[in-house]
Amino acid sequence: MAREYDLKPAPSDTADTLAGGATSINRRQFLRYGFNTAAGVLTASLGMLGFAAILLPPGGGSGGDLAVQFWAKGREDEAWYGAKHLQPMTKADFEAEAAASSAGTAGAAGVWNGVPVVVNYVAHSKYAGTPESNGKARFQFMEGYDETGKYVGHFEDLAELDPRLLPSDDLVMVFGRCTHLCCIPGWQLVSNSFTEDSWTPGGGDDGGTKMFCICHSSRFDPTALEMNTNRNRSNGATFNYAGIRRAGGPAPVGLPIIPIQLNGGVIEGLPDYVDWYTYCD
Ligand code: FES
Repeated sequence: MAREYDLKPAPSDTADTLAGGATSINRRQFLRYGFNTAAGVLTASLGMLGFAAILLPPGGGSGGDLAVQFWAKGREDEAWYGAKHLQPMTKADFEAEAAASSAGTAGAAGVWNGVPVVVNYVAHSKYAGTPESNGKARFQFMEGYDETGKYVGHFEDLAELDPRLLPSDDLVMVFGRCTHLCCIPGWQLVSNSFTEDSWTPGGGDDGGTKMFCICHSSRFDPTALEMNTNRNRSNGATFNYAGIRRAGGPAPVGLPIIPIQLNGGVIEGLPDYVDWYTYCD
């Protein structure tokens, strides 16, 4: 059963937390040093992460391995994947869990090459042709707007250039650092209206089945896929990315997608868009 927490208000001044940071990395460096990078993030962020920190990966490990592993440290007795901590994620795991969901969804925290991620399963192929009014979740490809309301682009603009950004096998994986202050949003870690087992179309803030950041209650809709923009924390360079939509709360924009593939049923991440994860480092 999910825990309940009092929500904390967002700090009014975020200047300090947006200053400084690490360097941008390329694909080869990412594969080789993923765990070291994450250890640095852990050191810098523990003070404000609180509960979310238990989801962070340990130092050391199998750098270069593309398989995504479940991460349930500290929640082994309550998360549906608690007994699978550090085991490779498979599509079958999510299908089995989603079978008990009225919205047809399932999600889990994971670790991928030392990077915190969240994997969401949406029974899109089963329900995409059914009326949205039935409350069964399906992916939505949407226009994206930045925090000022300026139009950025449509998800399909990026997916057309790289089809691997489309949900693969009814799964979508996102980088697990909140675009507000870099906490780790979870999947159904707390009980509230945003995390209940329900779904509403449109990518808005009504309905449940949201990824919820416990730090200051930002919400993200893993079924609403858009193009958006963010900036590298180290050098200030902006970049467009394919992501899931921010539905509400202080987070300025949504979370970037990490393209995946299945290898014998095991979910693997593809390290082709590492620049999209630089807004926290
Ligand atoms: S870090 Fe503040 S809402 Fe996520």
